[in-house]
Amino acid sequence: MKKAGVFYGIGVGPGDPELLTLKAVRVIGAAGVLAVPKSEGGEDSLALSIVRKAVDLDGKEVLLLPFPMTRDPEALKESRRSAARLISARLNQGIDAAFVTLGDPLRYSTFSYLMPFVKEFSPGSEIRVVPGVASFSASAAALPVALAETSERVIIIPAAYELDKVRDALGSAETIVLMKVNRAVDGVIDLLTEAGLLERSFFVSRAGWPGEELVTDLRAVKGSKPDYFSMIIVRRNA
Ligand SMILES: C[S@@+](CC[C@H](N)C(=O)[O-])C[C@H]1O[C@@H](n2cnc3c(N)ncnc32)[C@H](O)[C@@H]1O
Repeated sequence: MKKAGVFYGIGVGPGDPELLTLKAVRVIGAAGVLAVPKSEGGEDSLALSIVRKAVDLDGKEVLLLPFPMTRDPEALKESRRSAARLISARLNQGIDAAFVTLGDPLRYSTFSYLMPFVKEFSPGSEIRVVPGVASFSASAAALPVALAETSERVIIIPAAYELDKVRDALGSAETIVLMKVNRAVDGVIDLLTEAGLLERSFFVSRAGWPGEELVTDLRAVKGSKPDYFSMIIVRRNA
């Protein structure tokens, strides 16, 4: 029986193609198929546009996998199951598949949801991960501001879900990284104002991309509609 291929989760970094690792470039170049998540009805895959700038994809199969922009658990599960079936069909033929993801594949990424389905549909395949430069590292670098010193703690929290959790997080660490902040930005700014942390907060959008935006006076962000690729970094000791 043919040996199954390897399923790679590859972090392509936060946007700047120079932040793709040498290992990511090598593994993508060698894989038989490049699997790319694409939000349904959304813009072209950013992960793919980053990869194209660093890897020659001529002749490689590029599998575009649609994922709906929804919080409906059944719809999400179905899209992940379908994607995993397509990937597993290649793995079962002995072809290595590289699934690319922005930033790092093990933090708020579709890749981790695919792993159990791929294990189910292609039990003989191995899963390997190539870590990527995280968006919060790129955002801290763009400012630049230290994320942690000596005994300081860092909390990473998505702001899009429960503002109560964000409120709790603001008191629990020296540095608070608020990801997925775009739709919640006004509520978050109110919480930062309440906590007296507005002057210790930094807004970063599209770190490392041509349209990068760095804002140190967050009052300028209130009422705006920030890009999805935005975050707020709070440094309580700044
Ligand atoms: C689904 S998460 C992806 C995180 C990614 N896997 C990582 O390790 O960074 C998307 C969130 O990452 C953040 N993000 C991704 N790229 C970014 C960038 N270039 N600049 C600022 N924030 C970014 C934003 O907070 C965005 O809402």
